[in-house]
Amino acid sequence: MTRIIVVSSGKGGVGKTTLVSNLATALSELNRNVIAVDANLTTSNLGLHLGIPLYPKTIQDVLKRKAVVKDALYYHPAGFRVVPADVSLKKLMIPKTDTLLDVFYKLTGDADFVLIDSAAGLGREAKAAIEAADEMITVTNPELPALTDALKLAKLAERYETKNLGVVLNRVKNESHEISESDVEEFLNLPIIGRVHEDRNVRKAIANKTPVVMYKSGSRSAQQFRQIAARLAGEEYRPRSFLIEKLFGWLRF
Ligand SMILES: Nc1ncnc2c1ncn2[C@@H]1O[C@H](COP(=O)(O)OP(=O)(O)O)[C@@H](O)[C@H]1O
Ligand SMILES: [Mg+2]
Repeated sequence: MTRIIVVSSGKGGVGKTTLVSNLATALSELNRNVIAVDANLTTSNLGLHLGIPLYPKTIQDVLKRKAVVKDALYYHPAGFRVVPADVSLKKLMIPKTDTLLDVFYKLTGDADFVLIDSAAGLGREAKAAIEAADEMITVTNPELPALTDALKLAKLAERYETKNLGVVLNRVKNESHEISESDVEEFLNLPIIGRVHEDRNVRKAIANKTPVVMYKSGSRSAQQFRQIAARLAGEEYRPRSFLIEKLFGWLRF
């Protein structure tokens, strides 16, 4: 059965697209069949994170019924498929829940996971993606305001009967003023399903249009993204040995 999981956040810039591109990579490593969809049509950038800048057909064409979804599916070298969004202003549109549902439905079948990169906040665009998906992951930074946002998202998920899988804390720096994990879990009554530390390799990887799991396979953040993927796939996380990581690195570059 295909799991349709939306990645949401209260604020923009917290790491949704980074999580989607790295989970897609790490789940592909676990031999899962994954499709990553850019459903953030106002500030779309999944294609940029993944190095697919020019696409003849995008999710906008599919939503407007000018293309069928199979024509907007691109193969990423990491093994997953991507439905990118057009980044130009003239293609600006806000999708409706039922048209998104239609697209997601057409992607089910042989895929194990459909990962949805959604708009930040609680506006119409974000709501449509949460309503159309079956499950939700919330990304936040370890700051207090982010918690109240996450709580509102949790309420939305409840309203739309979208299963709330929990929270991914991103850009953790272990600074004393950061909110603690137990505070997060207690306040939201949701599990923390992963944490990813602040890691400059993430920024370098994005500049190189490659998910960090691929770009710097042995980095701390890459291992942390893999850990979240293993949890989603219901597999035990086994860190790869230093030697294997080195071999991967040599083979890639
Ligand atoms: N774990 C991390 N360590 C360092 N920088 C990060 C990390 N996660 C995200 N970033 C930075 O934050 C920026 C925004 O991330 P992005 O995934 O595009 O956010 P969103 O999709 O939520 O708007 C990235 O371009 C990157 O520079
Ligand atoms: Mg984004």
